[in-house]
Amino acid sequence: MHNGATLDRPVPGAARTPFGTRVSRWVDSRLGLDALSYPVPRHANTVFYTLGGITLFGLVVLIGSGIYLAQFYNPQPVGAHESVGYIIQSVRFGALVRSIHFWMANLVMITMLLHMARVFATGSYQKPRELNWLVGLALFGTSLGLVFTGTVLKWDQEGYEALGHNEGMGKLLGGLGTWFTAGFTRSVPILSRLFIAHVAILPAILILFVIGHFALVKHHGISGLPGQEAEGDMSDTQVAIVEEGRSSFASHLRHLVGWGLLVTAAAGALSLLFGSPLGPLAAAGPERTKPPWMFLPFFSLENLFGLKSLLWAPVILFLLLALVPLVDRSPAKALRGRRPILAAGTVLAVALIGLAVLALTTAAKTHLGGM
Ligand code: HEM
Repeated sequence: MHNGATLDRPVPGAARTPFGTRVSRWVDSRLGLDALSYPVPRHANTVFYTLGGITLFGLVVLIGSGIYLAQFYNPQPVGAHESVGYIIQSVRFGALVRSIHFWMANLVMITMLLHMARVFATGSYQKPRELNWLVGLALFGTSLGLVFTGTVLKWDQEGYEALGHNEGMGKLLGGLGTWFTAGFTRSVPILSRLFIAHVAILPAILILFVIGHFALVKHHGISGLPGQEAEGDMSDTQVAIVEEGRSSFASHLRHLVGWGLLVTAAAGALSLLFGSPLGPLAAAGPERTKPPWMFLPFFSLENLFGLKSLLWAPVILFLLLALVPLVDRSPAKALRGRRPILAAGTVLAVALIGLAVLALTTAAKTHLGGM
């Protein structure tokens, strides 16, 4: 005969399941987290193949810190610069959160560029991942838009000159560019509209592209290493799992979070050491500042060819990048067969870095008709 109390009691001598394991089993069975344990090849856990995930981790930190800053920022031209000063001096943790937002934005751009370089170098944009390369480019463009609008929000000299370029380009675009100019509407200042772009429009676009990007990564599986090609019914991911042995996506997530925390710690350390710059209130006059580093190549082109180059240079750059999967259709990802495209990519990267270095060593010229 049994009663309930006897059944609940542990059998004497039997090993008890550790508390942590019981909790994680309970959570797994309620949320279905074991679905995350699907197999991935071991190389997915290397840092080179985790750079996209690290970028996502950085984006989450940017959204969190951005939401905090938005509580205190005033997107009106009269109060904007003063409110940034208020965040730095009077808001609890304001200076730290603002600096983390600034440094994380820089680190995210670096991890994104490294991710793109890895995908390029390993030929991971090739069939069947061509469209995901294009979605990646859209993510890159949207991120540049976020950096650009964020720079304007400070409403210091750098932000003011960035806005001047925004308007200059808007005018060059004619009717299509009206949104980028103050003349679009009399009811809302352009600074407030760029604020809305920074906190709502561009993040919404970014999140939609991120969802699409991740859905495609899940659909195709992570690419095999160069040399691990699809064979018969097996995808390159499956070939890689057979050759290297399997890990699981849950384990990949743990690596990703580890790296993400490390990058966040780096952003924290940079924030404590250097803070985030805020120049004096904007004043009309000749251009004096240089843009953030990711726009430096365009600054040089503008110095060499005038404001118009800010329209055609990014278009040419994005077109060249978009053509990559069309131009390189070699059946294998192996480096040897892809020498021409790798050489072209290297030339482009060296040219962009050269233009950025040139920008660091030259003074700004006036392009905006003496703002
Ligand atoms: C917000 C920016 C981005 C995020 C959060 C992101 C995230 C990711 C993640 C998590 C992966 C899985 C593998 C990995 O981590 O390396 C991935 C793969 C991929 N990404 Fe991105 N990515 C971003 C930007 C880009 C850019 C700028 C490009 C290229 C123009 C790109 C192209 C690709 C391609 C083609 C793959 C498949 C690669 C493979 O299977 O090996 N991504 N991305």
